[in-house]
Amino acid sequence: MASGESQALSAGATKAAIYQQVMRQIDAVLEGETDLLAAMVSVVCLLHHAFDTYFWTGFYRRIGPDQLLIGPYQGTLGCLHIPFDRGVCGACARSRQTVIVPDVHQFPGHIACDSRSNSEIVVPVFDRSGELIAVFDVDSEQYAAFDQVDAEYLEQIMARLARFEIGPLVVGASGPCS
Ligand code: SME
Repeated sequence: MASGESQALSAGATKAAIYQQVMRQIDAVLEGETDLLAAMVSVVCLLHHAFDTYFWTGFYRRIGPDQLLIGPYQGTLGCLHIPFDRGVCGACARSRQTVIVPDVHQFPGHIACDSRSNSEIVVPVFDRSGELIAVFDVDSEQYAAFDQVDAEYLEQIMARLARFEIGPLVVGASGPCS
């Protein structure tokens, strides 16, 4: 990480400037890393703490043809299973496109994991062959917290995950868990 990169941006920093700084942090932290779970956890952590508007930040992993299961996240308790035919996450998974919802209470089928959420963005995550492997979901207590700027930067960040592999949970008898 470049000198001074970890310093907080000024309170008036634009959303784009914050995303650019977070992207540099993500690239620095994940340099040389190959494990998908480590990458997801780090992306969630860095993004969640970069924005006051992020109330719930995390992944739902695709575990079947039309099923999502909770993945790494920060925030209050998230629902565990989401089928593709439900919620904003399901809509994103079905369409394979980013979904921005300015008012979740107006979205048919929205799943309210926490009643304090008022707006939401969900971005698809693909592997290197173009398979959908997850969706990335951010909720905000503010209405209309997300726009095309969030979509563009979050899509760039999610594209970085295509190079990672699903790693072993335990490295081996002599590994760090033994
Ligand atoms: N609101 C999402 C469900 C996930 S929670 O927000 C963490 C949805 O409607 O898909």
